[in-house]
Amino acid sequence: MLKDKMEKAINDQIKWEVYSSYLYLSMSAYFESVSLKGFASWMRIQFMEELTHAKRFYDFVIARGGRVILTEIMAPPADWDSPQAVFEETLKHEQHVTSRINDLVDLAQELKDHATNSFLQWFVDEQVEEEESVDEVLQSLKLNENNPGGLFMIDKELAQRAFVAPADVTL
Ligand code: FEO
Repeated sequence: MLKDKMEKAINDQIKWEVYSSYLYLSMSAYFESVSLKGFASWMRIQFMEELTHAKRFYDFVIARGGRVILTEIMAPPADWDSPQAVFEETLKHEQHVTSRINDLVDLAQELKDHATNSFLQWFVDEQVEEEESVDEVLQSLKLNENNPGGLFMIDKELAQRAFVAPADVTL
């Protein structure tokens, strides 16, 4: 059984994961509006991944006999100055999510909730990957800042990303 404090913190995280998906879908729409189809596709996959994160937390609350309470999701921004600005915001956002996951781990340990602590380790690892992949794109964008041909190449590269549905989560 989840303790109230832990349940409330995970419910709050479900909201953040859904907000992440909403933010990335908005970024995808921005990229569609400036005809960068590869970037748009990459962000759409990011949107799907975030939904699986939200669902992972959702399923965990249910599995532990808790109660999922969904709350209001704020509106994401709609416009950015450049692809680089989008990825700077994405990196900042993922770093924020990482610190939230770390806070959840701290809370699970403080409450001696070993099951939640174990469950959260998947997210600890996932955040390392998330930050790394976003930073990789950001660095490519910085290297090609004054090179429209480079932007076109990055767009082609990002179009290759495919969504891989996790075997243990269904939407
Ligand atoms: Fe669900 Fe991108 O962290």
